[in-house]
Amino acid sequence: MTTKEIIIHKTILKECVKFWLMTKDGSAHAMACIFNDQKDRLIMSELSVDPMFRKNGIGLLMQQVREEIGIKEGCTDSFLWVELATWQKDWYKRRGYKYHSRLEGKRAQWLKKPLIQ
Ligand SMILES: CC(C)(COP(=O)(O)OP(=O)(O)OC[C@H]1O[C@@H](n2cnc3c(N)ncnc32)[C@H](O)[C@@H]1OP(=O)(O)O)[C@@H](O)C(=O)NCCC(=O)NCCS
Repeated sequence: MTTKEIIIHKTILKECVKFWLMTKDGSAHAMACIFNDQKDRLIMSELSVDPMFRKNGIGLLMQQVREEIGIKEGCTDSFLWVELATWQKDWYKRRGYKYHSRLEGKRAQWLKKPLIQ
């Protein structure tokens, strides 16, 4: 398990709150968002680890930190979408995400993970 320091920047917008995450060394970034009208849902997107730093648990760390943000903000579930038939879909499934629904207009689906047991 990696122990990289993560910088979190919170942006309060009219319709949502966004959390921008980046490792201090710039090896990875990610975003999470909570919409004002669905405050129980953490919506994740834009996870990316620099190819030079992959397979060291940084992606998992970014997931864990985003989920902790969601729990702290009072969200009950975390959502993200992935393209169908990709290894990334399996990557998220191995990290607790399950099928939720089809994503309209794309060959993709929403995955969901409960944040509270
Ligand atoms: C997906 C991503 C964030 C994972 O980051 P990471 O730091 O390598 O993640 P981890 O070290 O925590 O996990 C590595 C795992 O990914 C698997 N993996 C990595 N590259 C892979 C590949 N090309 N094909 C299949 N599995 C792969 C490893 O086998 C390992 O499996 P595990 O679940 O048994 O541990 C990173 O590969 C990435 O940035 N990809 C491009 C952007 C992207 O796809 N983002 C997600 C959008 S939905």
